[in-house]
Amino acid sequence: MSLKKLVMAGAVVATFAVPGVASAAGDAEAGKAKAAVCAACHGQNGIAQIPGYPNLAGQNEAYLVSALKAYKNKQRSGGQAPVMQGQATGLSDEDIANLAAYYASLPAGGK
Ligand code: HEC
Repeated sequence: MSLKKLVMAGAVVATFAVPGVASAAGDAEAGKAKAAVCAACHGQNGIAQIPGYPNLAGQNEAYLVSALKAYKNKQRSGGQAPVMQGQATGLSDEDIANLAAYYASLPAGGK
């Protein structure tokens, strides 16, 4: 294969890669549907009802993504993290992005 063809093939791959990157920004509606199970601990409105459990409403989206990934791959393991590891193992990267978008979209004070 000529160098020119290789470069063109690379450009095609890069072009197809873009929608994947774009969809990394989560879909809050899909996240809401997925969040029913989370509400048991983090509240319907993202404000935890259980003392010692964190509020998620209005949290920074990128932070939520990194927190969920850290539970999923067991990088976060101290304190009550095992509770969340169990919740995060079943989530795909898309689920995580959607859940993060949803909780980030909620008003931080609840309601
Ligand atoms: C059984 C109760 C429970 C359920 C269900 C649950 N969580 Fe959690 N979650 C916790 C606890 C407890 C912590 C604090 C863990 C720690 O100390 O690291 C936590 C922490 C988190 C954090 C980190 C918050 C921060 O400020 O660092 C995120 C994000 C999170 N949960 C998202 C979710 C999502 C999304 C779901 C649903 C898929 C969910 N949780 C379901 C109990 C729960």
